[in-house]
Formats: sequence, structure tokens, C-alpha cells
Amino acid sequence: MRVLVTGTAGQLARALAERAQGQANVEVILVGRPELDLENPASFAQVLRHYSPDMLINAAAHTAVDAQEGEAERAFRINAEAPAEMARLTRLAGIPMVQVSTDYVFDGTSARPYVETDRPNPQTVYGRSKLSGEEAVRAGNPDHLVIRTAWVVSRYGRNFIKTMLNAAQARERLQVVADQFGSPTEAHDLADGLLVAARFWRNHGGFPQGRYHLAGQGRASWYELAAQALASSRSVGGPSALIEPIGSDQWPTKAVRPANSELNSDAFERDFGYRAGNWWQTVSALVAELVEPEAKAKNRQSRP
Ligand SMILES: NC(=O)c1ccc[n+]([C@@H]2O[C@H](COP(=O)([O-])OP(=O)(O)OC[C@H]3O[C@@H](n4cnc5c(N)ncnc54)[C@H](OP(=O)(O)O)[C@@H]3O)[C@@H](O)[C@H]2O)c1
Repeated sequence: MRVLVTGTAGQLARALAERAQGQANVEVILVGRPELDLENPASFAQVLRHYSPDMLINAAAHTAVDAQEGEAERAFRINAEAPAEMARLTRLAGIPMVQVSTDYVFDGTSARPYVETDRPNPQTVYGRSKLSGEEAVRAGNPDHLVIRTAWVVSRYGRNFIKTMLNAAQARERLQVVADQFGSPTEAHDLADGLLVAARFWRNHGGFPQGRYHLAGQGRASWYELAAQALASSRSVGGPSALIEPIGSDQWPTKAVRPANSELNSDAFERDFGYRAGNWWQTVSALVAELVEPEAKAKNRQSRP
């Protein structure tokens, strides 16, 4: 099964390529700029013709949440118009499309984890453009799967864990927001779930339903996530810092973050038999992976 994945350097794209390696019957092909530029949605037609895949996973997106507040047109082109064109062309080609979406489609006011049937109410350009992308895919290709995930971290690209480790290297004290909660998700866990869904489609010729949440187990604030990352880092000889919990009002951002965007992934587990790992375990493993080689090299250098 040939699975075309958009994005080359993206966290999810790279994790998908890595996880598919050595798996029988699944070949992941990454495609990105300049061959495919989502600012020019028409560029997808040639890519689809060239690779002739059995499935498309759209893992590419404009993910710079704050920057998008000033460039809504570009955000909608990449996050909504491009998926719309992909849905139209995959339907014509007779293949399924998986669209990766976000917890930012919700306003964050729920007192419990969000389920798939909860009403979206995005508060940011990013959230609105991604919701519009979901709707376009649903309308454009009946053989679709929308997967909402959240707080993605990995050894690739830019993410919160890497930002915290870098900040701890530069400063002794850090301030981290403690009143926003979500579901931290390791990109490889997400990739594994998507590959399980791809195999399901191959075996059954379709998906059980069109929309699922798939995120790491457990709820964390940014403060708790930073604390866990730096404790793990300290335990393997990496950088650490004192962390002070602060409120969102002390850390104003252009795009308002949802106060609670925890996602409930029970439906995905029920239908596909797969659940992502606990965030604190995957974060500890990730930090060890990021920090240990560097810490060991430093120890070797400092030995007489
Ligand atoms: N990161 C999160 O915390 C998070 C949370 C919830 C949902 N999501 C969703 O999960 C998916 C994967 O996220 P991620 O963390 O892997 O994102 P990421 O690391 O920021 O990667 C984004 C990818 O999109 C590609 N891209 C951006 N603009 C493009 C354009 N104009 N043309 C072609 N490619 C373009 C990038 O291309 P290059 O390879 O050229 O850099 C990159 O591969 C996205 O749909 C995102 O909305 C992410």
C-alpha cells in the first residue's frame, strides 16, 4: 500500500516515514516543498499523478499559531483550500484521504475532555482555518478520515519540549503557563495510530466513521509538561531550571489558547484497537533521547 504523506520536515511526516520503515505492505512517500506547495493548491494535481498512491495523509499545515493571526488569507489557503483540492482530486482518483486536524477547533471552555461530537467553536485564525479544512475534506471526499490531535512533541522540528530544554540551557528560572490544559502527544504515537487506521482501511475498504480524536493519554498543563521534561532531563544529566507557574494573563499571546483542550480518544481505541501512550512516559523517553547523547559527550569531555 503506497501512502502519500504531505510534509517532509514536519514532526508527523517524519515520524510516519520512520514508523513505516520495515513494515510489510506499507510504503510511505513524503512530499513537500518545492514539489508540493500548499500555498498553490493546484500543485497537488501533478503530485497525485506522479506518485499514484493508494491513500493520502495530509500531515502538512501552517502551524505557526500566533503568526497566522496576521495572515489569515495564507492560513486559509494552506489549511483549508489546499485540503479542499486534495479531497476533490483524491475522490476523483478513487482513494481515501486522511486529514490531520487540531484541538484548536474547540474554544476550551469544556469541563471534560472533548469528544468527536462536541461543537467546535474556534477562537483563532489557525483553529478556524483547520476547521474549514475538516469541513472541506468531509464535503469533498466521502472516503475520508479526520484525525484531531493536540500538543504534538517529538525529536523533530520545533515543539514545546525542545523549547523548554533550550531555555533551561540558557536561563536558571523559567515561567510557564499553568492554567491551560491539554493532551500532549508524541508524534510517533500519532503516526502509529494513523498506520493502524491505514491498515484498517486496506482490510475493510473504508473507515468506521469520518472523525476521531487521537492524542496522548492524560491531561497536563504547560507547567506540568515543562516540569516533567526538566525533571527527566535532570535525571539523565541534561539541562534543568527552576520553573515558576504563571497564569495566561501573565503570558499574553496574539492567538488566544484554549483553557482546556484535552481530547478524549476512546472512540479511536474502540474502533481501531489502538491507544497512544501516557504523556508523562512518552515525554520522559523523548527527553532521554534528546538529552542523553549530549550529556554523555559532555561527561566524556570533562573527564581528566
Ligand atoms: N504541532 C502541534 O502541536 C499540533 C497540534 C494539533 C494538531 N496538529 C496538526 O498535526 C499536523 C502535523 O503537525 P506537525 O506538528 O507535524 O507540524 P510541523 O512540524 O509544524 O510541520 C508542518 C509541515 O507542514 C509543511 N508545510 C507548511 N506549509 C507548507 C506549504 N505551504 N506547502 C507544503 N508544505 C507545507 C511543513 O513543510 P516543511 O517540511 O517544508 O517544513 C512541514 O512539513 C498538522 O495538521 C497540524 O495542524 C499539530
